[in-house]
Amino acid sequence: MLEIRNVKKAFGDTVANDDVSLRVKAGTIHAIVGENGAGKSTIMKVVYGFYRPDEGEILFDGNPVTIRNPHDAIALGIGMVHQHFMLVDTMTVAENIILGAETGSAAALDLDKARTGIKKLSEELKLNVDPDALIEDLSVGAQQRVELLKALYRDAKLLILDEPTAVLTPQEVNEFFAILRRMKNQGKTIIIITHKLEEVLAISDEVTVLRDGRSVGNVRTSETSAADLARMIVGRDVLLRVEKPDADPKDVVLSVKNVSISGKHGPAVKGVSVDVRAGEIVGIAGIEGNGQTEFIESLAGLLPVTSGSVMLNGRDITNANARLRKELGVAHIPEDRHRRGLLLESDLGENSILGVHYREPIASGGFISSAAVSRRVGEIIRNFDVRPPNPDQLAHALSGGNQQKLIIGREFELNPKLLLVSQPTRGVDIGAIEFIHRKLIELRDSGSAILLVSAELEEVTALADRLLVIREGKFVGEVDPKTTSTEAIGLLMTGG
Ligand SMILES: Nc1ncnc2c1ncn2[C@@H]1O[C@H](COP(=O)(O)OP(=O)(O)OP(=O)(O)O)[C@@H](O)[C@H]1O
Ligand SMILES: [Mg+2]
Repeated sequence: MLEIRNVKKAFGDTVANDDVSLRVKAGTIHAIVGENGAGKSTIMKVVYGFYRPDEGEILFDGNPVTIRNPHDAIALGIGMVHQHFMLVDTMTVAENIILGAETGSAAALDLDKARTGIKKLSEELKLNVDPDALIEDLSVGAQQRVELLKALYRDAKLLILDEPTAVLTPQEVNEFFAILRRMKNQGKTIIIITHKLEEVLAISDEVTVLRDGRSVGNVRTSETSAADLARMIVGRDVLLRVEKPDADPKDVVLSVKNVSISGKHGPAVKGVSVDVRAGEIVGIAGIEGNGQTEFIESLAGLLPVTSGSVMLNGRDITNANARLRKELGVAHIPEDRHRRGLLLESDLGENSILGVHYREPIASGGFISSAAVSRRVGEIIRNFDVRPPNPDQLAHALSGGNQQKLIIGREFELNPKLLLVSQPTRGVDIGAIEFIHRKLIELRDSGSAILLVSAELEEVTALADRLLVIREGKFVGEVDPKTTSTEAIGLLMTGG
């Protein structure tokens, strides 16, 4: 269906694709894996016509093709769902799908026709998407299915999915894979980029590995293993699990009593209490949408509490704003790095001082010291292996995983007394996950208190010293992550 031959693509001095070749057979699911920055998104954007290759050729259905823009790609029957969704929040599903149709014909504006078409597709594949729903009211999983529908509505035969599961809960991933299998049975060809090796093993027929912009391996999924893939991806053996000494908790740093918080649709958090001590990691496990996001955002000073109290090292910060909390030693690694974590149109230097630009040594004599900024950003780049290591690059030019490393590095640089961290390894490659986990444990052992939320049950159970389970805005149990099975935790999460 698709053959890529020796494609090269550079952005200035950065060679994103050095020599990529790959063959995707019709009617199969083909996984593409590789480290952050290996060139996965870039090669797929070349296929989708976002970028023109500097060298090499592309064959589709056996014929050499020139894809000048996404319009050409769509006309050939290629659809793509991007790493970051491209939906307009305030419009309906049907409006978003038509908006993307880009055909310019009057038919493209026929909302009724679109509604009928969407309903039919949605039923065929059991997507459960209402054409009249507003995007902002949909869960992340449903938005993902809208992106799929958008491509299918335009008759895509080949679907390219760039890290589609990064934002899904484990339950949603299972449903999503069931949809992909139904699509494959209908004869569609699917390319999926993912960092999760168990997903590669579960869903794909073949795997291609990219490293430093080159294709370094192609294997049949049935003939490989997670350890083999990890070795091909990173070029060395990788620890696929966390090793940590027992915690040695000291004084209480954060003390939350009876806190309630309102969310978009009514009460999100209902009277929760928790203490987090210096030198321990307290994990919160829960299905997304059960109040954990609001809880963390409120502790960071981004959402007010409606009742209850929050103390930090004995000081009442219940109503303190985000800046004061930062001053007092609270750092926050947010789950939504595009909305809360980065200024995409600013360079890495500016991003490295976000929120602390007014502090010594960054601010000096009423000005921002460029020497201090470059020292700071240099340290983050070095300590967190942000690639490429160019402080003048704009944040949006970094690959997804490297954006995450930049944010984590920035918050660690503050030597926080309390670190609030949501989904620390979302979109991050296996080598970097190992690295971030190690850094979190080092931070714990240096005496920080850490409150961790992750949708990855394996991640919270591996990192947390104590684990709270949240359901419908309440902590419904505390378990010892070392001795409790994931099944038991799963039951608490669902209330089963
Ligand atoms: N528009 C751009 N301008 C400059 N450099 C870019 C641009 N897009 C990508 N790059 C660089 O090209 C390289 C490959 O990036 P790409 O996004 O393809 O990586 P990736 O394999 O998708 O990584 P991730 O797993 O983190 O998403 C990176 O070094 C990245 O910084
Ligand atoms: Mg990418």
